Amino acid sequence: MPVASSFVFATCNAGSESAVKAEVARAHGPLLTPAFMRPGLITWKSREPLDAAFDLGSTFARVSGLSLGISKSTDHLVGLAAGAFGARSFHLHAFPRDVPEEGVGDETWSRIDSSRDRISAEMIQAGLHLHEPRRPGAGEWVLDAIVEPDTGHCLAGVHRHQAARHPLAGALPRIALPPESPSRAFLKIEQALAWQNLDAEGALAGLHALELGCAPGGGTYALLRRGVSVTGVDTGAMSPLLAAFTGPGGARFTHLPVPAGALGDHPLPKQTAILVSDMNLAPPAVLKYVEAAQRRVRARILIVTIKLNDRVMESRLPEYLSSFARFAPGPARAVQLQAHRREVCFFSRS
Ligand SMILES: C[S@@+](CC[C@H](N)C(=O)[O-])C[C@H]1O[C@@H](n2cnc3c(N)ncnc32)[C@H](O)[C@@H]1O
Repeated sequence: MPVASSFVFATCNAGSESAVKAEVARAHGPLLTPAFMRPGLITWKSREPLDAAFDLGSTFARVSGLSLGISKSTDHLVGLAAGAFGARSFHLHAFPRDVPEEGVGDETWSRIDSSRDRISAEMIQAGLHLHEPRRPGAGEWVLDAIVEPDTGHCLAGVHRHQAARHPLAGALPRIALPPESPSRAFLKIEQALAWQNLDAEGALAGLHALELGCAPGGGTYALLRRGVSVTGVDTGAMSPLLAAFTGPGGARFTHLPVPAGALGDHPLPKQTAILVSDMNLAPPAVLKYVEAAQRRVRARILIVTIKLNDRVMESRLPEYLSSFARFAPGPARAVQLQAHRREVCFFSRS
């Protein structure tokens, strides 16, 4: 184990800090005491040193791991990385702490990317082993440099990548909302695909999706653009854009204007590979309808938005995830994506 620390960090959406703290208190009890908190960043002190296998296990955390402390200069950061990794290879992820709701702007990314390039060059010169720039594979180490906007100082942290974790720096995919998209739900689908490495061009082309709660159609639009035909279930009106839209390979949208609870009467497409749900209903109702649909279509990819409108619902998240796991086609994963407000994404694939 290359690294040990008595401090833990997590980044999250601004406004989700208390949800992360509550989750961590439930999962780890008195082991971890909150140390400091800024919008989008929390640290804890541990009663005993932790090694990098430690998993915070928080759905509301975007990135989490062991904290190596604040670094005010590149030299210091290189020293922290040398102490943590020695001769082991690692990825360097540099990303901003404060993330506006509409996402990180191009100017901020270009500033952070150029300082990451400079830091990488110094690390390589110092004899450290950085992976070539690519998404981390399972088990690979990541050095997180969480950059403060005003000072350029950063909190340095370490985590080990695994399939349930986000592969991109800061869990922040660089996806812009197309101006013509019928809704922001476009970002929820695109960000869920990026989280689970399903966002390569053509990766889903030719598949069919069933989407519960599809109106007005941002999620549908994202799927159609990727060549996925969509059957959408919602009594709400769809954007006129979709009726006329044909995606790559002839991907088209079909509307079933009924509530999800009335689907029993309707034939569903036989080869549904993807089941998406984004209904503004309480989680038990969402899970009941998703389960009923999944028992019929047996999709191999499930992407389910769960709205958690209050603290009680937030505290019941593990229970909702266990219900989901009972009918999911593979391991059940949950995360709050950058585009989410009071929501999380449940995901599973066979
Ligand atoms: C957040 S919006 C969905 C946004 C949509 N996914 C998009 O991409 O634009 C929630 C939707 O859930 C739908 N909804 C609520 N209850 C439903 C039910 N029982 N069956 C189907 N849709 C439902 C609402 O009509 C509403 O359009």
